[in-house]
Amino acid sequence: WRHSRPTLSSARREGLSSPTPARFSRDTGARHGIPSPQQPQGANALNAIKNPRRDALLAAASGPIEGFDVSSPALYEHQAWGPYFARLRREDPVHHCPESRFGPYWSLSRYRDIMATEVDHATFSSEIGGIQVIDQPKDLQRPSFIRTDPPKHDEQRKVVQPIVAPGNLAKMEPLIRERTRRVLDGVPRNEEFDWVEHVSIELTTLMLATIFDFPYEERRKLTWWSDVAICDVAAEDSPVRTEEARFEILKEMAGTMSGLFEERRKGPPKFDLLSMLAHGEATREMPLREFMGNLALLIVGGNDTTRNSMSGGLLAMSENPGEMAKLRANPELIPSAVSEIIRWVTPVIHMRRTASRDVEIHGRRIRAGDKVVMWYVSGNRDEEAIEDPDSFRIDRPKVRQHLSFGFGVHRCVGNRLAELQLRILWEELLPRFEQIEVLGPPRRLYSNFIHGIRSLPVRIPG
Ligand code: HEM
Repeated sequence: WRHSRPTLSSARREGLSSPTPARFSRDTGARHGIPSPQQPQGANALNAIKNPRRDALLAAASGPIEGFDVSSPALYEHQAWGPYFARLRREDPVHHCPESRFGPYWSLSRYRDIMATEVDHATFSSEIGGIQVIDQPKDLQRPSFIRTDPPKHDEQRKVVQPIVAPGNLAKMEPLIRERTRRVLDGVPRNEEFDWVEHVSIELTTLMLATIFDFPYEERRKLTWWSDVAICDVAAEDSPVRTEEARFEILKEMAGTMSGLFEERRKGPPKFDLLSMLAHGEATREMPLREFMGNLALLIVGGNDTTRNSMSGGLLAMSENPGEMAKLRANPELIPSAVSEIIRWVTPVIHMRRTASRDVEIHGRRIRAGDKVVMWYVSGNRDEEAIEDPDSFRIDRPKVRQHLSFGFGVHRCVGNRLAELQLRILWEELLPRFEQIEVLGPPRRLYSNFIHGIRSLPVRIPG
């Protein structure tokens, strides 16, 4: 599956593009003469673009709160989720949706309620019903350690943890930097190209191939499997149309990987994920479905999330030229900017748990077996936990205090690796390119799980 990249002209046909490119540069674009003071700049230019579907979704956010169904992927595809969650946090922080495409479910929208749920894994299980609001069909289950509770969870997590230990990350840094430089040096100049395809996908796929020690020339298979593993089969441009088709492709993935797994098992233990799984006591004898599930977890975990932080970070900077100028003037702010990008983008929209017993939160009675969805996108905009949360501020205090990596026993294994990749990207990007013009709005993924950008047209002068 290849993303069908919208050209700027096709976006214009659909009324989605701006007449003026949004730019950012060392001096916020002012000296480059475009846009002129009369024309909308940065965020304003992109926000001025007409999107009737988004307008309709935003208007519905002032309707009766009982009717809210925040699991609708269209809310994320059109970036219309903000006002829904603002109302839920204020008026109904433990909201029940009795009917949706995914069945009935509870929504937690406040930062502190999400944290409290994350740490109480005995009450809010990942194993009973999985981690997404959508259920995996009973006969097509693919267990993995993110879908288990302690103690099994802890044993399997321990096996892969060394890949992201500080010492190993330090060893990986020169290779990540060298690959990042190569990708950035190869991007087109003076012509429109898709940042997602040329930079975000390429860099994250290279990284995945590295941590799996997967054949370099076949690395795009990893991207394909990852896209298949997380897509919403109901999306118009979904790479697969049914859960059965998804299962078949993931079975093919397991087939390809099992050859490598066997090779690694016969060899001495090495520092790549497949070798770790092949030698780990808790993982070396996994049944096929569990092998499929854990591979998909590690591929999606290391791919879609970081990819979208790379695209979303560029977009956020172009929408906030003042922050971009601040970063250029103070490159020591890069680590802090990276954390703010990850909060701002919130690449994983939600995680779901299932109540293992009857429980009450803020007076609402949740029954054993009910789905409880923790909306990270909302927690990361909770004004009670984060100061001025709707502003993108690269030097905000306590910048690592966000929910994008989750919390508790399942807190993202790869968080330091993701931060490292993003730090290197910005360290290499700033001195290389004086200006990157974002030429039109992003095309976003139809998904309530991955906050994805499918394409982002840009141009780099020079
Ligand atoms: C778990 C987000 C990068 C591997 C998670 C969770 C979130 C998350 C929200 C679930 C946390 C919870 O339930 O409390 C992100 C974001 C990333 C990122 C936003 C990038 C910006 C990575 C990378 C890897 C990775 C690079 C590669 C190794 C995993 C794994 C888990 C996980 C294996 C399961 C952990 C467990 O269940 O114990 N991630 N992730 N992630 N992530 Fe990441």
